[in-house]
Amino acid sequence: FEPALIDGFKRKHDYLRISLTERCNLRCFYCMPEEGIELSPKEHLLTNDEVIRLATLFVKSGVTKIRLTGGEPTIRKGIVDIIARLNDLRSHGLEAIAITSNGLALHRHLPTLIQNGLTHLNLSLDTLDPFKFELMTRRRGHELVLRTLDIAMASPSLQSLKLNVVIIKGLNDVEVLDFVEMTKDKNISVRFIEFMPFTGNNWNKSKMVPSSALLDRIRTRHPGLMRAPDELNDTARSWSIPGYAGSFGFISSMSDHFCASCNRLRITADGQIKVCLFDAKEVSLRDFLRSGASDDDLLRLIGKAVQGKQEKHAGMEDIDVVTNRPMILIGDPGSPA
Ligand code: GTP
Ligand code: 5AD
Ligand code: SF4
Repeated sequence: FEPALIDGFKRKHDYLRISLTERCNLRCFYCMPEEGIELSPKEHLLTNDEVIRLATLFVKSGVTKIRLTGGEPTIRKGIVDIIARLNDLRSHGLEAIAITSNGLALHRHLPTLIQNGLTHLNLSLDTLDPFKFELMTRRRGHELVLRTLDIAMASPSLQSLKLNVVIIKGLNDVEVLDFVEMTKDKNISVRFIEFMPFTGNNWNKSKMVPSSALLDRIRTRHPGLMRAPDELNDTARSWSIPGYAGSFGFISSMSDHFCASCNRLRITADGQIKVCLFDAKEVSLRDFLRSGASDDDLLRLIGKAVQGKQEKHAGMEDIDVVTNRPMILIGDPGSPA
């Protein structure tokens, strides 16, 4: 099975991201257009059984980490069942069960998800200011996210807790030092993310702050900061301040991409395999699955898609935002609920 997940550039794909829903309970402006997006008809979305069938196939083919995304994955009704069934795949080699969440609804469910096998949580929080939160997400709920953060901090069986901060020039870049200060007492990893271009998000280079500029700013305040070890195939380059409990890092997809070490594949909520975040090309696993394909048939189709993966994305000025999906539909953050 394994060779199906190795591409033409010898990259081994052992990390699968599965989007569980196109819906979201926030409306972050960098993720989707203000008017929202058209949702797929329900029958186009993968069922729990289909999600597990594909996950099983990928794990048997070498995937060791699965991240559930959205939209906002915690608003999918079956999430507890899905995590519990993914947990059964540990015997086939699955090591990490992760979610990326905006944290809004999670304060209620987090302990249950952890009991059922969740090991890694990435929480999106772009600002420490409740007014800016409303500006960026077009919704209220800042204090709920902070509550989730507290619950996550107090959950010893969570193996990893990261905070995702998408930096927009003139909006939240002034808060970078405040986020760094959070790592003084909290053993979390804060990641500053460069604003990326997607359909309908009005990306503009002038709204993006390159990671190097943020690092310079942090270094002025903390001249002793040190490079921290990165996980294998990490999207972030990490740093820490001596004596601080946590660390911070930069996801520099635009100014300094990490495509050469990419180990990720994605399945969208409507069952398409997407081999690169910035490549509009997709292959429908759902249709093939529903036409009665065997595991071997599916694996051949997956292998073909993986073989078609490009060496790297086109560069920030040339990324195809017209045919590519908006972020909300790719499988990272959220959409109209
Ligand atoms: P872990 O490394 O598993 O902790 O998570 P992650 O950083 O890959 O995922 P997360 O969902 O937290 O996403 C954080 C940021 O990284 C988001 O802005 C993602 O869009 C970006 N990101 C995730 N995967 C990719 C990728 O394959 N390519 C690029 N360029 N960016 C990615
Ligand atoms: N640029 C950078 N990051 C983005 N995210 C969503 N849209 C964008 C974008 N245009 C982030 C969310 C979430 C993560 C999965 O992706 O904030 O934390
Ligand atoms: Fe916001 Fe989009 Fe995140 Fe939902 S998904 S929280 S709308 S970025």
